[in-house]
Amino acid sequence: MRLTVIGTGYLGATHAACMAELGHEVLGVDVDPDKIAALQSGRVPFHEPGLPELIARHTASGRLRFTTSYEEAGAFGEVHFVCVGTPQRADSDGADLTYVDAAFAAIAAHAAEDALLVGKSTVPVGTARRLADTHDTEVAWNPEFLREGFAVEDTLRPDRLVFGVASSRAEAALREVYAPVLAAGTPLVTADFPTAELVKTAANAFLATKISFINAMAEVCEAAGGDVGILAEALGHDDRIGRKFLRAGVGFGGGCLPKDIRAFAHRADELGAPLRFLREVDAINMRRRDRVVELARGLCGGAVLGARVAVLGAAFKPDSDDIRDSPALNVAARLKLDGADVTVYDPEAMDNARKTFPLLGYAMSAEEALLGADLVLHLTEWPQFREIDPARARSLVSRPHIVDGRGVLDADRWTSAGWRFLALGRPVPAGEGI
Ligand code: UGA
Repeated sequence: MRLTVIGTGYLGATHAACMAELGHEVLGVDVDPDKIAALQSGRVPFHEPGLPELIARHTASGRLRFTTSYEEAGAFGEVHFVCVGTPQRADSDGADLTYVDAAFAAIAAHAAEDALLVGKSTVPVGTARRLADTHDTEVAWNPEFLREGFAVEDTLRPDRLVFGVASSRAEAALREVYAPVLAAGTPLVTADFPTAELVKTAANAFLATKISFINAMAEVCEAAGGDVGILAEALGHDDRIGRKFLRAGVGFGGGCLPKDIRAFAHRADELGAPLRFLREVDAINMRRRDRVVELARGLCGGAVLGARVAVLGAAFKPDSDDIRDSPALNVAARLKLDGADVTVYDPEAMDNARKTFPLLGYAMSAEEALLGADLVLHLTEWPQFREIDPARARSLVSRPHIVDGRGVLDADRWTSAGWRFLALGRPVPAGEGI
């Protein structure tokens, strides 16, 4: 089939490349000419494992092309996927639909009469119906569930497909688009517009709730002298609960979970069906950042003013260079404001971090960040940070004090190498005074 993908960020670029991989002719559309030029020459302007290879292969074969022209897109596509962003609004917690509305209007103005416009962006429930009522071209909603770092895998081999459709014609078109994925046995759920939109926001709300649940247990463990790591392991053995998304730590960040739960709560209020617990999920998440700052102050004798702090990690999670709402950088910036001399190292997110937080210090390696540090904060769980030898690290720092904000470092190894080792949700050793 001939498909267009409008918006070439994480979602759109991945979707376009994966649709080409499924055998379709694909035209990626974006208003940013620099992004289009980069993608057309096979370069991906962000870090996503496996995606550069896919884009290079399919642009070289001509099956995947990119353009800034909606006119060209309208003339080309049978099905148009809208994958633009829905950031948080500046004036409220709600989602900003400017880009979605503009993309639908632009493609509807040029699309063939029998084309299908498919929304993939995460939107407040009710958006698909409103767009369907606004435009003459048929609309469908097909939410995505891809995770950064696993975007290609999640698109080609998703846990499920969800089609929000208003006609059998729309369902048939989407079945044709995803034929190889369906043939591989992927479950398909077809639904009306509101249910399809809600599947996405409910899924992200559930994941955020699960993380905040374990982080709330971490708060209780800190107060009671328990160990949240062991608690999570024991809970996870119960099949009904499961171990996934029970990693306690400095909490969730990124371009999706934080803004999606706020937008969902905002929309639920508008609908008169409030989801008050999501406000608490958000609050628990933000309190974990406060706790790291509090531990840092405690380890620096009450104030971080003048202390050299090494922050390991800047991306909101490993295998990504995305720093949107990154807990690591939030903590780093707050310590900097409190007068600490902060040096950050991240394997992939340095350029993005430098652009957004130019006043923080940056090192070229973890070892360089550790040099002369009074305190080390481990805030993004890149595998290479787990490989750091505590004895070697001790020889680099001024004072061997570390906070594990992700609960993955081996406390015994660090303590036996002479470190004062604190982790979120774990007992603080007697005499630490924190
Ligand atoms: C999330 C969802 O997982 C995807 O299914 C969804 O499609 C995507 O948002 C989206 O809406 O586009 P993503 O933001 O890439 O994907 O990242 P996750 O892997 O969900 O992690 C989110 C945050 O939670 C990260 O900061 C991570 O460090 C944190 N996290 C995750 C924890 O703190 N503990 C955990 O146990 C798991």
